[in-house]
Amino acid sequence: ATLTRFVDRLPVPPVAQPMEQRAHPAYPGKMLPYYRMEMRAFTARLHRDLPPTPLWGYGGSSPGPTLQTARGEPLLVEWINALPERHFLPIDHSIHGAERSKPDVRTVAHVHGARASAGSDGYPEDWFASGHSAVYHYPNAQDAATLWYHDHAMGITRLNIYAGLFGAFIVRDAEEQALGLPSGDCDLPLILCDRLIAKDGQLYYPVSDDPAAPWVSECNGNAILCNGKLYPFLEVEPRRYRLRLINTANTRFFNLSLSSGQPFQQIASDQGLLPAPLPRERVELYPAERADVVVDFSGLDGKSLQLRHQSEAILEFRVRDRGRRDTAALPATLRKVERIDQGLAARDRILTLGEQDDAGGRPMMMMLGGKHWSAPITEDPRQDSVEIWSLVNVTGDVHPIHLHLVRFQVVERRPFDLFAWNASKTLKYTGPAQTPPPEELGWKDTVRADPGMVTRIIMRFEGEPGRYVWHCHLLEHEDNEMMRPFQLLPAHA
Ligand code: C2O
Ligand code: CU
Repeated sequence: ATLTRFVDRLPVPPVAQPMEQRAHPAYPGKMLPYYRMEMRAFTARLHRDLPPTPLWGYGGSSPGPTLQTARGEPLLVEWINALPERHFLPIDHSIHGAERSKPDVRTVAHVHGARASAGSDGYPEDWFASGHSAVYHYPNAQDAATLWYHDHAMGITRLNIYAGLFGAFIVRDAEEQALGLPSGDCDLPLILCDRLIAKDGQLYYPVSDDPAAPWVSECNGNAILCNGKLYPFLEVEPRRYRLRLINTANTRFFNLSLSSGQPFQQIASDQGLLPAPLPRERVELYPAERADVVVDFSGLDGKSLQLRHQSEAILEFRVRDRGRRDTAALPATLRKVERIDQGLAARDRILTLGEQDDAGGRPMMMMLGGKHWSAPITEDPRQDSVEIWSLVNVTGDVHPIHLHLVRFQVVERRPFDLFAWNASKTLKYTGPAQTPPPEELGWKDTVRADPGMVTRIIMRFEGEPGRYVWHCHLLEHEDNEMMRPFQLLPAHA
């Protein structure tokens, strides 16, 4: 039976409140807001007509509470693992990092898109078991942007996020504030993911037919959750709203549009504001990508319209006049995004995105630069240096590639000859370079690497020296070797 659509109200995750102010050695003479984010098991009704679903979440909800801060205002988070000792989803112990010798339930939190030091970045091997916690600090010395936090534990990230361990992390700043964009209750995160949900309300995670190695290379759900609800509705007023779209799905990409045919005005991508608002009939988001869009409901009083993924309506907006009006128009320009000069690049690293059968000839593991996670460091940029990374996708799939710590710009995509690459590891281009579309002309932290293409990105490695990671954000790939450490070397050796 199909579920009745639009009978539940869209939840808006509450804004997290600090428990107290505390000092921290990294910020001498300052008292910082101190948040406690406890990961717990709980049940939630995903839809009026479904029995409660067992989930895991930060603060006992999924999505967890929204962490909210401003540029230059550091904060502390104590991430607490108060989960049960057994996982409720199928662990593949044959995967590196998820061996039987390890505790079943391990967690480590990462703020996706944050410029945090290595010790607070959620390195996948820095996991801790149930009953333990870690205090991380976030300087927030970065532009306003819609970030998100999620689990990152080695070998089981896909299961922990699928269980519900994610939430929004919003950075604001004065420049953005001055633009008069929709704010207050007209500014909300819309966190999208899909899940396989059985009739009894249970989450189901797919397995291979090998019980000793249940890993599967992708996980697509049968239902799409908006802020943790199935097919909810949201009452809006006839004015502009800022929706912060976040794709937290394991594998699925979203192709979003409005049933009314009106365009979204996209104002921001992963790492904040675009140069100017961009009218878009469709917004495509790969896992971990974000888009902030402004939707104008004025003149639609009494009407309903739906947010669609492809042709499926996933959220209904009901426009009801409560007498409030917009006070300002959307500005024509948002911020200057200075292009990084390619001439400044100290390196151009050629990095393959590939896949390989494992020793037993079983399906495949996904590989970056032809290397396993455990191979010695190969990506070792110097602090403050500029590099270009050329991502050579030799597979048949799109891989959304994410680098921790840095923001980057998309330089170009260019088709290449796969046979020439396989035969002699030479890059032979088969067509002209394609410049990025306008929605990719802001700062990014996750980029779609298309099959048969070399996707080139450029970044300056600002941040604290230390060990970070880069990886595919298809969580099944990330967990099975499509992740590599990188070492940020000090500026002066
Ligand atoms: Cu969204 Cu390495 O993470
Ligand atoms: Cu991938």
